[in-house]
Amino acid sequence: MKTENTVWHPTQISKSDRARLKKQRPCLLWYTGLSGSGKSTIANAVDDLLFERQCHTYLLDGDNVRHGLNGDLGFSDEDRVENIRRISQVGKLFVDSGLIVSTAFISPFQSDRDMARELLEQGEFIEVFIDTPIEICEQRDPKGLYKKARAGEIKDFTGIDSGYDIPVKPEIHVQTAEKDILACAQQIVDHLKTQGYIN
Ligand code: ADX
Repeated sequence: MKTENTVWHPTQISKSDRARLKKQRPCLLWYTGLSGSGKSTIANAVDDLLFERQCHTYLLDGDNVRHGLNGDLGFSDEDRVENIRRISQVGKLFVDSGLIVSTAFISPFQSDRDMARELLEQGEFIEVFIDTPIEICEQRDPKGLYKKARAGEIKDFTGIDSGYDIPVKPEIHVQTAEKDILACAQQIVDHLKTQGYIN
């Protein structure tokens, strides 16, 4: 244990102080779904809508975080677990700062998403399943990665030769084949309103 000689130091300003100042209930919108399902696009659209409403937000995006904080990680099961462990810890810190945080990562394993949920307080973790059939993701293939995976040029690709656990009980289930990006984003903002996270 590397922390045996460190002691948790309580901070002077609490999470609820910060939340009160920002006039919102901090939470973590945990987007999960296949590559190309629309996680980042929808999370960005939600961020726009929230910004317009003067909410205080921050977005952690898989592809971007993998350039920095998680630049040392690949796509083996082990690395994906570590990717999600770090993101959930960072997400928790951002929630503690009073923000409405979004994380957009495939996060393929239910056990890791549950681990992230358990780090947070009751009601703070909102699992958002971006449900786009793999046929549609593959058709869109915005980064050309499905094509490469089918050709065997990329290994361990989610949905091809690496698994994805369908969320068991997500707080929000967005079926993207049935509506446009704005309607998907609105569904999420409506949830935040009806559940009292924002006014
Ligand atoms: S996760 O599985 O560890 O949660 P994460 O969301 O960070 O994945 O990264 C996924 C992104 O990395 C995809 O959107 C895609 O652009 C890229 N990528 C590169 N290789 C792979 C792969 N083998 N499987 C899935 N995504 C990959």
